[in-house]
Amino acid sequence: MRCIQAFGAVVLLLTLFKIFISTLHLVTTYSHKDQPKSLSLQVHDNDVTTQSSEQESFTQPRPVDVLNVSLFEGLTQTIPQNAAYWNRLLYSALRILDQSKLADWSNCRETNQERLQTNVHDVASYPVLLQDFLKGMNCSTSPVLINQPDKCSSSQEDGNNQAFLLFAIKSTPGNFEGRQAVRETWGKERVYQRGLRVRTVFLLGNSPPDGIDLSPMLSLEAKHFRDVLQWDFQESFFNLTLKGNMFLQWTLKECPRVSFVFSGDDDVFVNTPALLRYLKSLQASQASHLYVGHVISTASPIRTPNNKYYIPLSFYDGPYPAYAGGGGFVISGALLQSLYSVSRFIPFFPIDDVYTGMCAKALGVSPEAHPGFQTFDVKEPDRGNVCVHKDLIMVHQRSPVQMKRLWKGINSPLLTC
Ligand SMILES: *[C@@H]1O[C@H](CO)[C@@H](O)[C@H](O)[C@H]1NC(C)=O
Ligand SMILES: *[C@@H]1O[C@H](CO)[C@@H](O)[C@H](O)[C@H]1NC(C)=O
Repeated sequence: MRCIQAFGAVVLLLTLFKIFISTLHLVTTYSHKDQPKSLSLQVHDNDVTTQSSEQESFTQPRPVDVLNVSLFEGLTQTIPQNAAYWNRLLYSALRILDQSKLADWSNCRETNQERLQTNVHDVASYPVLLQDFLKGMNCSTSPVLINQPDKCSSSQEDGNNQAFLLFAIKSTPGNFEGRQAVRETWGKERVYQRGLRVRTVFLLGNSPPDGIDLSPMLSLEAKHFRDVLQWDFQESFFNLTLKGNMFLQWTLKECPRVSFVFSGDDDVFVNTPALLRYLKSLQASQASHLYVGHVISTASPIRTPNNKYYIPLSFYDGPYPAYAGGGGFVISGALLQSLYSVSRFIPFFPIDDVYTGMCAKALGVSPEAHPGFQTFDVKEPDRGNVCVHKDLIMVHQRSPVQMKRLWKGINSPLLTC
């Protein structure tokens, strides 16, 4: 692991050095960009109000600004009320909502093991990481370490010319090489045909405290590429829900008019031109309620303790609502405010894509299955086949080298298939 990180560090430094030399003049102009117009979003622990200016001119559906319990009917029809901890938390939040209050999750960290044990009798038998998740699951916010406040509005862009598609890529501090491959291929920030503006951010938590301190390199990387977002929580599979929620908050503040968000991993391959063609072909009504990807429609929790996705019965009891696989899915910008609003009442769930499915369900938005999203990948012999990838939208998973090869392939004018 250390070896890989050290290697990543060397690659990062070399790349930065190379780019630095060739773009010295750019660096100076960069720092003189205008400050972005400020669109303020107020997020308080006990307050769901949001304020943003200039909303009128935009044809988005109204956000869910009056929340009431009936809104959650779809969700409560899927998720039963029973003795499991998470189910109890959900129903108690909805009871409180019924009294027009917000659940008080402000005391976010449970440090008292005994109290946790009273709530979940067998918590001591949970995997350590899941216990960790449980202790912190009421913490729904985390300090920003690296921000990109002018990602969607810069001096060249007026209000009508904001990002059409925002790539929100879940990454980890050590995976510089993966990020660099995405930047050089499908995640490259540019304006495609018909003025479709594509922007990219990488979502990062903190590296584990016992690893090499990557923060000096990350801040170099962030200054140079201006696409790194980092929050002060520890990187882990069970913290991806928090990561996704922090990204939601960030987008509502910094990219409130983005048309679509692609949320995915840093090791997937995306056929950006095909994705843009698909998004552009949508009817307005479809485009405003889009939640599309590889849909897992009848999943239930995995009860095998050694599985990465293990969920004990005493924690969650019930089926999962249909959800789009987290490797890569697309959601309308117009849905983000409502998603965030309902997320204030739905306790965090340790599996992030299931959680998104729950929030969508509460809004009555069903995930739409699209065969171009191959979260479980295509057949083995087709994985290097450019022609197969030409018609797909995303596949899981490709190495940086494969990514570059496929990208070159699908964009080649010589491609005859
Ligand atoms: C989270 O908040 C809920 C509602 O206040 C509370 O019942 C629960 O015990 C808290 N959980 C933890 C782990 O602090
Ligand atoms: C999530 O991040 C918090 C804050 O850094 C940390 O205390 C917690 O252990 C992490 N959770 C998991 C499951 O690793």
